[in-house]
Amino acid sequence: MASSSLHFLLIFLSFSSFYLLSESLTPSKPNRFVLPVQKDQKTNLYVANIYKRTPSLKVPFVVDLNGRLLWVTCEKSYISSTYRAPRCRSTQCARADSHYCHTCSAEARPGCHNNTCGVMSVNPVTGLTAMSELAQDVLSIQSTQGSNPGPMVRVPRFLFTCAPSLLRQKGLPGNVQGVAGLGHSPISLPSQLASHFGSAGFAPTFALCLAPKGVMFFGDSPYYMLPNVEITQPLSYTPLIISPQGEYYMEVRSIKINNKNVPINTTLLSLEKRGVGGTKLSTINPYTVLHHTIFNAVTQFFTKELSGIPQVKPVAPFGVCFNSKSFKRTRVGAGVPNIDLVLHDNHVVWRIFGANSMVEAAPGVSCLAFVDGGMKNNGASIVIGAYQMENNLIQFDVARSRLGFSSSLLFFKTSCNNFNFTAIP
Ligand SMILES: *[C@@H]1O[C@H](CO)[C@@H](O)[C@H](O)[C@H]1NC(C)=O
Ligand SMILES: *[C@@H]1O[C@H](CO)[C@@H](O)[C@H](O)[C@H]1NC(C)=O
Ligand SMILES: *[C@@H]1O[C@H](CO)[C@@H](O)[C@H](O)[C@H]1NC(C)=O
Repeated sequence: MASSSLHFLLIFLSFSSFYLLSESLTPSKPNRFVLPVQKDQKTNLYVANIYKRTPSLKVPFVVDLNGRLLWVTCEKSYISSTYRAPRCRSTQCARADSHYCHTCSAEARPGCHNNTCGVMSVNPVTGLTAMSELAQDVLSIQSTQGSNPGPMVRVPRFLFTCAPSLLRQKGLPGNVQGVAGLGHSPISLPSQLASHFGSAGFAPTFALCLAPKGVMFFGDSPYYMLPNVEITQPLSYTPLIISPQGEYYMEVRSIKINNKNVPINTTLLSLEKRGVGGTKLSTINPYTVLHHTIFNAVTQFFTKELSGIPQVKPVAPFGVCFNSKSFKRTRVGAGVPNIDLVLHDNHVVWRIFGANSMVEAAPGVSCLAFVDGGMKNNGASIVIGAYQMENNLIQFDVARSRLGFSSSLLFFKTSCNNFNFTAIP
């Protein structure tokens, strides 16, 4: 009896160690992805090349942090053996929240079929909208273990819209074919990665690291930059607020310059249910846009703190400019007063250093990189633009409803240009 139960135990042990061994030998399913982003020098928008279609083709898209979906123009030279347009009233249409049956009187082609579903696509720069055909096709993205790109992984039936060409005629870089939305909406890029790779343990989280040759991460941390800096360590967190439109906001309670409170109307700082007020983050605004009264308060305070330094004629779209020679250069940019966004808690501060607050707008002219948003009382009071996010890693952790931010990576002797894009096969 004793010997037979020992025997059983031995079989059980050898079986379980075999099981553990085979488990560790099977490569785990990819659940983190990486996508390079480049800054377009002319528009200051961020562009990502995304692999789509069959055969696979690299297609450039503008990255729109708050965009609801991915749209591409399909009228010309869309060649793919895997293009499908779901029938109207199908589950795919319901997922895209489309209840409109699309018809097209021209010759059938991608973007032009009868009885498919119609979805509005938006050019986020001009605000132009156009009815588009909901479509699905292969999308491929590079997997990662956090430090280098790994093998490409396919999402076979990625939903997007096929928009008319007129939608990209204005406001976007000439070569881009569409816009990739990262918003909190059912068919945005992060949402579809989450639904496709959720069973592989994909965390509904993504991170932006903007720079001329920057990077975006999809899935959980750690994220690494050369020379082997783990960016997740220095993150601070604040609640991530999602507006009814699926846009990303954070709570700024006050603004300090040189550690002194800037007097601003705090009513403007809170996000109302109607989507008015508050602080939104955006990759479509190259520079932070401030409601007129906040703009005046910040620029007046900033120039008062720099009262020894003469101003020069401002270069549009900025309001306050100086001779670049007036500043000593430091690792994190011109030595100017820090601008602190005080968040949900007095101790949680998004500090903007010279590298993110001053921009050389013309040769020898450095301007405060904030733009006057006028007096309009719709939309956000503060829109944090791309320039203020550059070389900061910003993590949108939807699962934990928190926004992680690293402050300037220049302090950690790295930057968002420093992801090691050498692929590991
Ligand atoms: C859609 O239906 C209309 C009316 O029957 C027809 O004239 C048109 O050619 C069809 N379009 C396509 C793309 O098949
Ligand atoms: C603050 O802003 C709100 C919203 O624009 C406005 O209604 C209110 O009058 C302002 N308060 C002051 C003191 O200016
Ligand atoms: C980048 O990654 C590759 C592959 O792991 C490695 O061989 C190379 O040394 C890395 N580059 C640097 C600068 O560390």
